[in-house]
Amino acid sequence: MTTIDTDPDTGLDPLEFSVTRNLAAKNAAERDAILASPGFGQNFTDHMVDICWSVRGGWHRPRVSPYGPISLDPAAAVLHYGQEIFEGIKAYRHADGSVHTFRPDQNGRRLQRSARRLALPELPVPYFLQSLRELIAVDGAWVPSGDDQSLYLRPFMFAKEAFLGVRPAHKVAYYLIASPAGAYFKGGVKPVSIWLSEDYSRAGKGGTGAAKTGGNYAASLLPQSEAYENECDQVVFLDQDRNVEELGGMNVVFVYKDGTIVTPQSDSILEGITRDSLLQLARDRGHHVEGRNVSLDEWRQGVASGDIVEVFACGTAAVVTPIGTLKGRDFIDEQPTGTLALELRQELTDIQYGRAEDKHGWLYRLDA
Ligand code: PLP
Ligand code: COI
Repeated sequence: MTTIDTDPDTGLDPLEFSVTRNLAAKNAAERDAILASPGFGQNFTDHMVDICWSVRGGWHRPRVSPYGPISLDPAAAVLHYGQEIFEGIKAYRHADGSVHTFRPDQNGRRLQRSARRLALPELPVPYFLQSLRELIAVDGAWVPSGDDQSLYLRPFMFAKEAFLGVRPAHKVAYYLIASPAGAYFKGGVKPVSIWLSEDYSRAGKGGTGAAKTGGNYAASLLPQSEAYENECDQVVFLDQDRNVEELGGMNVVFVYKDGTIVTPQSDSILEGITRDSLLQLARDRGHHVEGRNVSLDEWRQGVASGDIVEVFACGTAAVVTPIGTLKGRDFIDEQPTGTLALELRQELTDIQYGRAEDKHGWLYRLDA
């Protein structure tokens, strides 16, 4: 078990996790075969973490156990009313073998904000951090060391109380699973094509758009299928005033001719940690950064006039991906290609993989 001190900010003592080893864990050869070509989200490590919560008992029974199916009462509220949230964060192996993650306090805090919106209990950030460390303590060998590879960590929480009344559940489970990851898009970093969703929204004013909750992703699947039918990789959503929101699983960033960087800002967009970090790196280079409404007209006219010189998408899973094409029902706009997106991508991943100085103190070591 990892040794963790009382948290100085919250005064919380660390949880005492029970650890049950997986007797059917993959051997080194089986693991290496998976790590040689991990794909995304298809293979899982040997263990998982879970912590229970109940109105009476608070957070209790922290466990590390063999990865495997979980049993759920068919009346569990999550299966009926979708009371569920999740996070996405990666562990990176550095050249000296050590394992680090990136700004996990931000993911821990976003999980709390999502929890608030979905009427779920807020997992204290120190418990969130400890869950990551406990899993790496048993499954650290699953962090790959290849170029652009990582171990994708997926924390999630759901209502498990068996009750069909519509109210916040009294029993909840927090889990953490992990999956070795290579490139999110097949073919690595190349410009993606984006389908403009005109008939469907992802979120609405006062809705759950800013929370990382399964329902937002469920709402994106039909428009995502429409994107595939139109030979596009991803879908972009507009709000009710035809302002650009985000893609199904990534934020959008526009680069202007004068060096200004603009990203949509509203209560219905997920506050991306990758985006926040890239914008900080851009500010460090002297770019002026704005978070504000960007209408579809501003995007299309800016590209047509040459005012917008680059458009890219970003998120933990896909990192940074230039947008090559925007396709709507009756138009195809080729997007200008610049170099900033890939330069910022390099700068960010150099920090994440320990190849460049971590000036902002963003790295958090998981294996010590
Ligand atoms: N927007 C959505 C809808 C997402 O699912 C994600 C991915 O997590 C992001 C934006 C980017 O967020 P982050 O950079 O924190 O991964
Ligand atoms: C992530 O980037 O971590 C996400 O959660 C996006 C998801 C669509 C894979």
